[in-house]
Amino acid sequence: MRKTVLDPQPGSYNIQNEWIEDEAFEWEDVHRHFSWYETGKVNMAYECVDRHVEDGKGDKIALTYFSDEERLTYTFSELQQEINQWANVLKRHGVKKGDFVFVFLPKHPQGYIAMFAAIKVGAIVGPLFEAFMEEAVKDRINDCEGQYLITNQTFMERVHQKEIPSLRYIFTTDEAKADNEIPIVKEAEQEEVTVDVEWVDLDDGLNIHYTSGSTGKPKGIIHAHRNMIQQYQTGRWVLDLKDDDVYWCTAHPGWVTGTVYGVFAPLLNGVTTVIHGGRFSAEAWYDVLETAQVSVWYSAPTAFRMLKAKGEDLQNRYDLSALRHILSVGEPLNPEVIYWGYESLGLRIHDTWWMTETGAQLIANLPTRPIKPGSMGRPIPGIEVAVLDEDGEKLPPYETGHLAIKHSWPSIMKEVWKNPEKYQSYFPYGEEWYIAGDLAYLDEDGYVFFQGRSDDMINSSGERIGPFEVESKLIEHPAVQEAGVIGKPDQVRGEIVKAFITLGDGYSFNDELQEEIRLFVKGKLAAHAAPREIEVLDELPKTQISGKVLRRELKKRESAAITS
Ligand code: PRX
Repeated sequence: MRKTVLDPQPGSYNIQNEWIEDEAFEWEDVHRHFSWYETGKVNMAYECVDRHVEDGKGDKIALTYFSDEERLTYTFSELQQEINQWANVLKRHGVKKGDFVFVFLPKHPQGYIAMFAAIKVGAIVGPLFEAFMEEAVKDRINDCEGQYLITNQTFMERVHQKEIPSLRYIFTTDEAKADNEIPIVKEAEQEEVTVDVEWVDLDDGLNIHYTSGSTGKPKGIIHAHRNMIQQYQTGRWVLDLKDDDVYWCTAHPGWVTGTVYGVFAPLLNGVTTVIHGGRFSAEAWYDVLETAQVSVWYSAPTAFRMLKAKGEDLQNRYDLSALRHILSVGEPLNPEVIYWGYESLGLRIHDTWWMTETGAQLIANLPTRPIKPGSMGRPIPGIEVAVLDEDGEKLPPYETGHLAIKHSWPSIMKEVWKNPEKYQSYFPYGEEWYIAGDLAYLDEDGYVFFQGRSDDMINSSGERIGPFEVESKLIEHPAVQEAGVIGKPDQVRGEIVKAFITLGDGYSFNDELQEEIRLFVKGKLAAHAAPREIEVLDELPKTQISGKVLRRELKKRESAAITS
């Protein structure tokens, strides 16, 4: 019989925080950690890098990078100097406080340097996912009229400058090929290794991530420097980071997890951070865990399911003895996967819940608390959670409703770019409760059990996909007349994107056309958004009044097909 509760594993964790079980904890308690508590001078880049150098940790490894071709390390001093040189180049070309600087680079230390250089001059950094195709890139930069982009010539093929008129300069990490391109690495070599930091206010803009909902194009979620309060503290409580850890978050900074828990949280905690360039493969990932001697590892259920499917024979070929703490985010973590981790790695996998909009983890399985497989854990200290009914009233344990977070917390989004109505839509029952869009129930101990989304958003491999964006792209294909897109349950990816379409006159459906349509979406948006399945219907179900496609009906149809 499998245990229904997995107890903490003393010896594997290191809670080094005085407030963890303190009922009286307040976020202000964390302020004392930061240099600005004394100096009044705020900047995320300073807190992540410079302060560690000033504290005597300059020779400690900050970043360690692995790919098939290359292995690189940067100490905190080396990282600081390179950031400063890049920041000087940005400054010289006019980048200033409040400007948007997009970063479109692979998972590589240069991506980190680019982000921090932009932040250091006071700009708002917009990391773009490395697999974004031309329209995904264009829509995001155009939405906030971004003037600056840091990228390379390979990625530039997906940047259609003529359609992004706001772009003033493109900083390239390799060569420059046009008048408005600046070879940032080459120019940085000539720059001073010190820079005047642009000191900002805690509420000034730090980063922007575009995120999908069920309607419209992705929205720009802007976060502020004050996020560091919660990102630092969750790095201690949830990631359980300590000075000698080697930490690996597998997400690309183009996703919020990659920025917050791949870049900010570990470096705020001064911990050695692993970057793996390249795509997922079980062998490559186990190799990183072994070679880097990773002790704390943050990934996602789809990846764990893929590793599980590869079997223990493969896993046993690697020395994973340094690993002491594993975490998961982004999609439901099945109990099966937790048991796999427990039985084959000897460790619990700690689920965590948060969203782009929340800026940091809010619900988690802390290393010191029992895990109930199937639950995302409990709210962290300083956070209050409730489940509300349709009228905004609290529901008792075991009743499913809207997952709500008591407003506010340090890392909540600053704004939705140029869309105050969208911001307000997270507060349908008034200012007291932030509504996540997730459905959940609580048990009598306050553990939160995720039950799905209340809207049509799709979650495939932890990546958030808006059906509207995919539908809009599908109908641009000449063969597609109408489209309705849903998430179809999938054993490995959680959900896959499934499209229902009607065909234009004269078209007949076959495997080639299906593949052509799929590649059309993939080529314009990104691989993860392309429908893995396409089904042709004579007619799509629609609302009578507005004629909008009824995705709910498509979902019902799909589950009937699965169960029949
Ligand atoms: O539905 C929830 C799901 O991912 C959504 C947030 O997506 P995104 O903004 O892309 O951020 C992902 C990573 C921070 C949530 O509304 N989600 C996130 N974590 C979990 C989850 N679903 C189930 N279990 C989780 N642990």
